[in-house]
Amino acid sequence: MNHLLEVQSIHTFIGQYHILQGVDVRVPKGSITALLGRNGAGKTTTLKTILGLTPPRQGKVVFEGREINGMRSFDIAALGIGFVPEHRAIFRDLSVEENLKIAERRKGDYTRKQDFLFSLFPDLKRLINLPGTHLSGGQQQMLAIARALVADNRLLLIDEPSEGLAPVLIEQLMQAIRQLSAETTVVLVEQNFLVASQLAEYYVIIEEGRSVKQGKMKDLVNDKATIHRYLGAA
Ligand SMILES: Nc1ncnc2c1ncn2[C@@H]1O[C@H](COP(=O)(O)OP(=O)(O)OP(=O)(O)O)[C@@H](O)[C@H]1O
Ligand SMILES: [Mg+2]
Repeated sequence: MNHLLEVQSIHTFIGQYHILQGVDVRVPKGSITALLGRNGAGKTTTLKTILGLTPPRQGKVVFEGREINGMRSFDIAALGIGFVPEHRAIFRDLSVEENLKIAERRKGDYTRKQDFLFSLFPDLKRLINLPGTHLSGGQQQMLAIARALVADNRLLLIDEPSEGLAPVLIEQLMQAIRQLSAETTVVLVEQNFLVASQLAEYYVIIEEGRSVKQGKMKDLVNDKATIHRYLGAA
């Protein structure tokens, strides 16, 4: 299979703590892959390890056939990997448009992508001159994702997009993520299993710093025992 990203047996330390103790993730090109697992399992650390923010001490991260572990985060991002961290990282004092413009990697990125971004998130067009502080939680999340799409990223890592959002906004967000996944491969951390199962084609379960199971989401949704054991949901 054609994997855009392969995380191979990574071990990551934060200070003296051995946080990831063998995580494998295979991400097929053109898919949405969900990272699942309980609080503190190591999902965010896996994303940060891919990006080199918490570099692995052992193991490999291979993107488009190239080993990227050991590269600086800035250089990893520049290969075409976008990151939407938890808690809607936007510049709250800047306007929506300014937030989008400073996300450019190359001059003109924003102008080229404008139509695509507004087709995904029509609200942003209406709010374009407002400062981030005037946006609702859902609008901030949409802006955070839009920022990661301004540059030509071939892989997008999104951490907990639905967290704290009202159901109607979650629905909008899911639609947008589905739409954008036609252009960009997505790795999604998602605590809401219903959201993850409706969006993702593949899943990886992380438990206490180890990947314990992965495969096709359509198989997982029928596997109540696994869901109960690792995700604690029925
Ligand atoms: N800076 C840090 N110092 C010490 N321990 C940390 C640090 N950051 C994370 N950890 C620990 O690493 C483990 C994995 O954290 P991580 O944030 O990757 O989990 P997660 O699966 O994203 O959890 P959540 O669902 O709560 O976001 C947790 O036990 C956490 O306490
Ligand atoms: Mg997390």
